[in-house]
Amino acid sequence: MKILVTGGAGFIGANFIFHMMEAHPDYDIVCLDALTYAGNLATLESVMDKPNFKFVKGDIADRKTVFELFEAEKFNIVVNFAAESHVDRSIEDPGIFLRTNVLGTQVLMDACNEYGIDRFHQVGTDEVYGDLPLDRPDLFFTEDMPLTASSPYSASKASADLLVMAYHRTYGLPVTISRCSNNYGPYQFPEKLIPLMIANALADKNLPVYGTGENVRDWLYVEDHCRAIDLIIHDGEVGQVYNIGGHNEKSNLDVVKIILNQVGKPEELITFVGDRKGHDLRYAIDPKKIHEELGWLPETMFVDGIKLTIDWYLENESWWKNIISGEYQDYYDKMYSNR
Ligand code: NAD
Ligand code: DAU
Repeated sequence: MKILVTGGAGFIGANFIFHMMEAHPDYDIVCLDALTYAGNLATLESVMDKPNFKFVKGDIADRKTVFELFEAEKFNIVVNFAAESHVDRSIEDPGIFLRTNVLGTQVLMDACNEYGIDRFHQVGTDEVYGDLPLDRPDLFFTEDMPLTASSPYSASKASADLLVMAYHRTYGLPVTISRCSNNYGPYQFPEKLIPLMIANALADKNLPVYGTGENVRDWLYVEDHCRAIDLIIHDGEVGQVYNIGGHNEKSNLDVVKIILNQVGKPEELITFVGDRKGHDLRYAIDPKKIHEELGWLPETMFVDGIKLTIDWYLENESWWKNIISGEYQDYYDKMYSNR
């Protein structure tokens, strides 16, 4: 079995590669990643020399590179993690989100059609359902909800999902889509809420909470997401969408306070800053379908996962300190100085 993992030098893709190499040591894994600001080869250091792993630097939207790779490798399964993934960046500069997330997905599926595969899996997001009101805790995202989008990022991911389903219906491409809630865990780029707050707290810097901090996200430990995708690509039904999430809803303010408490820093570090444009209020997944059809349930509760995550960032300071120097510092100053 040969699997192409795109975007595998990023947060979830890398964790998925680690998961697959452990769970299926007989599989061959090829990672295609453009190494954008979010991709980091240091993350893949532990697998780089394994005989059943190969890294290829390349852009999923580059048709020639992708077609040559498919011709040479003859993949059985393609799992597409490659994306521009940060909502704030999409608000500043939407174009690259459309190119990578929509056109890149198209190029990959064209190659799948041309060379034949058993499964194309699109790693989607719950943001394609828009948001839920804060005062209706009884409402959850289900797979049959209409797609809507608040940010250029979520619009690009919704567009990709529509295209994936169109390729299934029109060309018979054997596809599945998963739509997951917010992930956290090792190797997450420190522009996202949890690693950013950990890094700032450790450095005694302000913790910038958007708006009132009452927005709610449904947090999932990254390994649980990886296990779910492993199940879907093997046992999921072609043409189906599976929501992934674990009823771990928390307001941003609560998450930030938990982090401060765990690292022993004062709540005075919390600074309320200008809100994100179009800020989604609440995400909450109903994971009934994947539970009933594939037997998946999250295994790591937030109270344990956040400890594991903080410990990882404490033990791997060089990984994220390298990242928060250079280009990232310019981004941080631009994004946060005038909020
Ligand atoms: P990330 O930003 O950490 O990593 C993205 C990776 O894709 C990077 O390694 C980057 O170099 C690579 N990449 C970007 N453009 C590329 C291109 N044109 N060609 C090849 N590689 C390219 O993202 P992440 O948080 O790991 O998210 C991975 C996927 O999961 C994305 O599709 C995202 O939409 C989805 N997702 C993320 C979350 C979350 O909470 N982080 C939740 C649900 C779904
Ligand atoms: O729901 C899945 C999505 O989760 C994924 O599709 C995206 O790729 C991923 O980035 C994530 O999107 P969010 O926008 O929810 O994640 P982010 O970490 O950027 O923000 C989480 C919440 O925290 C959100 O309500 C905004 C808020 N926030 C974020 C940052 C970076 C702050 O209050 N301050 C901050 O500095």
